[in-house]
Amino acid sequence: MSTTILAIESSCDETAASVCRDGKILSNIIAGQKVHEQYGGVVPELASRAHIQNIVPVVEKAIVDAGLSAGVPIAIGTKAGCRIQDMDAIAFTQSPGLIGSLLVGAQFAKSLALSINKPLIALHHMQAHVLANLIEEPKPDFPFLCLTVSGGHTQIVLCESPIEMKVIGETIDDAAGEAFDKTAKMLGLPYPGGPLIDKYAQQGNPDRFQFPEPQIPGLDFSFSGLKTSILYFLQNAGKTNVYKVEFKVSEVEKKKFINDNLADICASIQQRIITILLNKLKSAAIQTNINNICIAGGVSANSGLRKAFGETGKKYKWKTFIPKLEYCTDNAAMIAVAGYYKYLAGQFDDLSVSASARAKW
Ligand code: KG4
Ligand code: ZN
Repeated sequence: MSTTILAIESSCDETAASVCRDGKILSNIIAGQKVHEQYGGVVPELASRAHIQNIVPVVEKAIVDAGLSAGVPIAIGTKAGCRIQDMDAIAFTQSPGLIGSLLVGAQFAKSLALSINKPLIALHHMQAHVLANLIEEPKPDFPFLCLTVSGGHTQIVLCESPIEMKVIGETIDDAAGEAFDKTAKMLGLPYPGGPLIDKYAQQGNPDRFQFPEPQIPGLDFSFSGLKTSILYFLQNAGKTNVYKVEFKVSEVEKKKFINDNLADICASIQQRIITILLNKLKSAAIQTNINNICIAGGVSANSGLRKAFGETGKKYKWKTFIPKLEYCTDNAAMIAVAGYYKYLAGQFDDLSVSASARAKW
């Protein structure tokens, strides 16, 4: 007997739905939200409204594209081929994220589960990022370590099974994605700046400028010092020690310095973020004696990190795993696969389950 899961993801500014059968992705639909571009960041209230507009067509398309069977239109859709009755469970992102956005997905999933009398499965967004590594072959054997790097989180996760995970290191301040996005903002780049830093870095010299590596004990990370050092560095147009505001150049001179050196600045910042991440991952591998190692989350789409991770893996004889790009940034396929494993473990939630902005791990 096969198991088919419909999953909904709405934790931030992407409305996404996916159908998976026995862990294999049959459809993966994402609607982005352009409305935030003019504000330089995600506006929570606008995100919730856009989710409400997007959720019916996105879920409907995910079911139709899954192509499970022809025929009977369903309550929420009108197209033939859209068979909600074929689903064995409805999975959704419960936390963490923007509460208004999460509530749209949660309420929709609950209503759907109630209407077809099928079980409901609530998922942790960051755990689902980790399990994106189980979507395609080759999959890591358990136990594995996962460096999960997103817009709001930076974690090293020890994964014993699809339903047993432990955070063994995490950021004490900014996340890696925030480090990318905030420094991109200082460089005058639009939100989200991570992909743009990646793009400019590809033409730059990563050794041209030196930024400090924080000395944080254990497996935890910190990115706020790096952010400050980049701020001072830009304020003095790279003329003096990057740790101090010894003097400030004029805005015009600062802009000129950035324009003239953008590729090298991006490459140097990116290289430092990558070395901070990979040095901690190396320590985690030594400490746990685990050599199946994955990366996940939006920042794992970074071309420099993907390359450096592969090279580090070769050097230390790790078996390395990186999800396909579309499964790194926010998506519902990872929610579907995480939901599938919870289904197999018989872990269901009742209709009283509520969305939560902050999640217990
Ligand atoms: O996982 P994700 O899509 O959403 C959250 O759960 O937060 O991660 C979004 C983060 C943003 O900070 C974005 O700038 C970053 O991932 N990101 C990248 C790249 N693509 C996305 N950062 C660096 N290089 C990229 N290519
Ligand atoms: Zn995410």
